[in-house]
Amino acid sequence: MTQDERKQAVAQAALRHVPQGEIIGVGTGSTVNFFIDALATMKHDLAGAVSSSERSTERLKAHGIPVFDLNAVERLPVYVDGADEIDPSGAMIKGGGGALTREKIIAEVADRFVCIVDASKLVSVLGAFPLPVEVVPMARELVLRRLRALGGEPRQREGYITDNGNIILDVLDLAMPNPRELESSINQIPGVVTVGLFAHRGADLALVGTATGVQECTYP
Ligand code: 5RP
Repeated sequence: MTQDERKQAVAQAALRHVPQGEIIGVGTGSTVNFFIDALATMKHDLAGAVSSSERSTERLKAHGIPVFDLNAVERLPVYVDGADEIDPSGAMIKGGGGALTREKIIAEVADRFVCIVDASKLVSVLGAFPLPVEVVPMARELVLRRLRALGGEPRQREGYITDNGNIILDVLDLAMPNPRELESSINQIPGVVTVGLFAHRGADLALVGTATGVQECTYP
């Protein structure tokens, strides 16, 4: 099975977690693209979606799935999104695709976070993947200094501006023995919009694409 076939398998499996007649949250990335394509097959059983990026919005609309503003929605029973890394507690690094801020907002509103990944994303300790941090442009140098003081090696993502008009710093070499603490510390730096650590609000369920099929991991 190729990596894309594993992504397709988890995307298809995630449909079982989409309640009928509801608006759901939809993330961003190559795995989510497969999910959006799969969702199109049940679009008449769905009220619509709240999307975490312009890219996902475009794809949802191309399939004829109504896209709602989050402020117009009272409740989201489920949010389906990928991850760059996920640890045994369900904490994740996200933002490889640069959509971390809208992803974190939607995840916070959703009752349930269903993470769809292939097995290459499973790690015992987070941190091999560079940690994305969305930053207001005028705060770049301040945030660079503070991230270095935390022990990381931040680099600005070249030629990339987020959907919110901000820059991304990707931080290498950050030790993450306590992801919740690190998430709070980075959030405290003025100018940081969002850090791509999803530890305080991690996944509730991961659907993991493996060579032998889709495995389910639930987190307390
Ligand atoms: C985008 C994300 C994605 O969920 C993450 O980068 C995984 O993407 P992919 O499914 O393409 O591996 O956080 O901001």
